[in-house]
Amino acid sequence: MFPDTQLEATVRDLVQPGRGILAADESIPTITRRLAKVGVESTEETRRAYRSMLLTTAGIGEYLSGVILFEETLDQCTDDGTPLVEVLTRQGIVPGIKVDKGTVPLPGAPGEKITQGLDGLAERLETYRAKGARFTKWRDVYVIGTGTPSRLAIEANAEVLARYAAAAQAAGFVPIVEPEVLLDGDHDIARCAEVTETVLHEVYHALHRHGVVLEYTLLKPNMVLPGKDHPARATPEEVADHTLRVLRRTVPAAVPSINFLSGGQTPEEATANLDAMNRRRDATVPWELSFSYARALQHPAMEIWAGRADKAAEAQAAFLHRCQLTAAARRGQYTPAMERAA
Ligand code: 13P
Repeated sequence: MFPDTQLEATVRDLVQPGRGILAADESIPTITRRLAKVGVESTEETRRAYRSMLLTTAGIGEYLSGVILFEETLDQCTDDGTPLVEVLTRQGIVPGIKVDKGTVPLPGAPGEKITQGLDGLAERLETYRAKGARFTKWRDVYVIGTGTPSRLAIEANAEVLARYAAAAQAAGFVPIVEPEVLLDGDHDIARCAEVTETVLHEVYHALHRHGVVLEYTLLKPNMVLPGKDHPARATPEEVADHTLRVLRRTVPAAVPSINFLSGGQTPEEATANLDAMNRRRDATVPWELSFSYARALQHPAMEIWAGRADKAAEAQAAFLHRCQLTAAARRGQYTPAMERAA
């Protein structure tokens, strides 16, 4: 497994200065909720039309090195019949695939979840490879509450995440490892830091147990933030301080890139926080600090589009603008004034 020229090439194509990843891999229930908010019924055709609108935006290849797709998108085409996977590769963007099957209640841990999808994974990976995917994603979730996350949830989720990552590498895919400590709750930023540190320690122990080669993985973590219902917001500098401290304590230097999720932050918050972290990059920060956003890249475009083909150009302009600003933050060159530029 090490060195491995195929995995090395995928990492090289994904981890590039000024570029990051778009997560467009919402499961059917999630995309159905998001489309409903803009008044669009979720059907295979509306999901295709929406994602085709996003992915055919001219110029996104400058800012995006990879896009994570949902299973059905691998088989879908643009209005003129070009496979969406080909639309990406033509722009120099690597297609990836979400391979987990979502979360279910974890017995013995009231209110907590475990991610499923290991059964049959090796066979599914073969079909995804034939359709052009080169990297994968699996997401675990952790809820901060009274007594949660429990040891059981932390250990069980780390174990399945590591089994997934090992299976992905064995099949020639670079795994994105996504342990998401959710934003929900009224906890303060220190509590989020404590939980994220514990979760990440467990994840890296499990990856080691399963022989996962860290050089060929990407980490997709939450930023360290106060809970959504906490009375005080944190400044980008506070978020950067807490997040980088936790990551330094837990993530080995062999990991090439950390691609944050946006996790319910507004696009402006997610961009400003990523920017603050990149402004602090120094010799104590061994990894690239990039993005793998879904909502923080897509939200303005989805609201403008709202199912109307005549709004596609305007929605694409909004999407390209968010890609530009987020890519600037990935270089530590974003300013809030850039939000107003057309
Ligand atoms: P958000 O950026 O909307 O949190 O989504 C990232 C993602 O892919 C969650 O799995």
